[in-house]
Amino acid sequence: MQDKLLDLEQRLEKAALGGGKNRIEKQHEKGKLTARERVHFLLDKGSFEEIGAHVMHRSSDFGMDKQRVPGDGVVTGYGTIDGRLVYVFAQDFTVFGGSLSETHAEKICKIMDLAMKNGAPVIGLNDSGGARIQEGVSSLGGYADIFYRNVMASGVVPQISAIMGPCAGGAVYSPAMTDFTVMVENTSYMFVTGPNVVKTVTNEEVTAEDLGGASAHSTKSGVTHLTAQNDIDCIAKVRRLLSYMPQNCEEKTRKLDYEVKEEYREELRDIIPASSNQPYDMREVVNGIVDENSFMEVHENYADNIVVGFARIGGRSIGIVGNQPISLAGVLDVDSSKKGARFVRFCDCFNIPLLVLVDVPGFLPGTDQEWNGIIVNGAKLLYAFSEATVPRVTLITRKAYGGAYDVMNSKHIGADMNFAWPTAEIAVMGAKGASEIIFRREIQAADNPEAMLAEKETEYQEKFANPYRAAGRGFIDEVIDPKDTRRKLIKAFAMLENKVDHLPKKKHGNIPL
Ligand code: HXC
Repeated sequence: MQDKLLDLEQRLEKAALGGGKNRIEKQHEKGKLTARERVHFLLDKGSFEEIGAHVMHRSSDFGMDKQRVPGDGVVTGYGTIDGRLVYVFAQDFTVFGGSLSETHAEKICKIMDLAMKNGAPVIGLNDSGGARIQEGVSSLGGYADIFYRNVMASGVVPQISAIMGPCAGGAVYSPAMTDFTVMVENTSYMFVTGPNVVKTVTNEEVTAEDLGGASAHSTKSGVTHLTAQNDIDCIAKVRRLLSYMPQNCEEKTRKLDYEVKEEYREELRDIIPASSNQPYDMREVVNGIVDENSFMEVHENYADNIVVGFARIGGRSIGIVGNQPISLAGVLDVDSSKKGARFVRFCDCFNIPLLVLVDVPGFLPGTDQEWNGIIVNGAKLLYAFSEATVPRVTLITRKAYGGAYDVMNSKHIGADMNFAWPTAEIAVMGAKGASEIIFRREIQAADNPEAMLAEKETEYQEKFANPYRAAGRGFIDEVIDPKDTRRKLIKAFAMLENKVDHLPKKKHGNIPL
């Protein structure tokens, strides 16, 4: 009996080490931690409980019956992060390249099922050569079993994917269906087909890094929400992300202790430039409003004309969506609409209240935008806000022009509280464009058309470039002094804490995808 236990321990140890120390060293040489080290750093100390350490693959083709490693290339189990239950799987590249066999997939599915039944997040630490080639359709079926569970779990429990090595072929679709993806710079990549296939099919020469590295996916495709400098940084980001989320869709987010004090922020008065065409950084507004150092921006380098991220206000988690005047004047375009819509829907799934900061000159004109579907993509953002039932608060800092006024969480589409700074300009369009259209005849007939245009612009500006008409109609609840914004918003979110709202009974809506 003693011998048997010893044998088992040695086998587990061997598996834990990935079948020999040199494999660990190889992993470290690439700048990567091993699967077990990653789990160790991810979870609270000593909290990890492993499930399925003895599982081995059942394949016997290609001599696989002589190569069975306990655990079969994936470490699975549960533990805690900041004291809260999470389920985790970590693919072990040192065992068959972390490739996914039928049994490897079964282990992942088992913890996903447990996560669903027990209402806790699933974190996947991906590092895999994809489907285990020796197993053929059994491994493809294993992937599909995971995909199906990703969809079933979507909106029920948060799912986070860390990409910490290769992620190729159809394997990318599991992370793509999770809520957030974090990629490690220089050691991870994601693509449907790798550089060799690309070269064969399209004759393009491209490196794995350029095709699907962290930089490509954080700036060009938007596939990844966050990038990390190394494994430790990646794990820290996953932990921080989770801190803003509840455990599941039935729970509210955790509120940190916070005592409301003197909440005036004088610096908010100095952010809006004198000229309405001058840019400013919306992140300054965010940081002036939210609890100190609580803002975690996601998707920072993709579609940076909109800012999205999590923060806390008075200890409460909120999601922030803000137009960004320093990039394309904060205009809404295809990519920023998609980015905003996805974030709004995540927050709505998980009861995270929304703060929307508006300074938007409208939708971006042009053939590029029209042909790439600004209509259907802009509609995504409109749809996402309209169907969101979480507490929704809007602050218009400056421009709220045209259709973009409606889209950006206006009262008309269900926002709960709408504030504006005195600098807000709520109108169909800017003063110059508007005057050129509605006063065209008078300007043409004038002795000095330029002077006439300037006069009409001023007239229009005085009438519409302010928040008071909208406030007079009740579309804005209050025009507030910028320095008082934080206090007002803390109170608004506290007031909305127990909001209950229901969508009409339906199977599901049909968001314009
Ligand atoms: C079985 C695999 C494997 C795989 C890697 N290995 N990928 N074994 N199935 N898919 C094994 C290697 O044989 C090797 O074993 C060990 O893992 C390490 O691999 P290396 O190639 O030495 O590592 P590296 O040089 O770092 O290259 C990593 C890699 C490369 C780029 C991922 O291994 C690779 O291209 N693998 C195949 C990728 C692939 O085409 N996968 C299928 C994708 S299609 P030894 O014993 O030598 O150490 C797919 C379909 C999903 O996934 C469908 C879902 C719908």
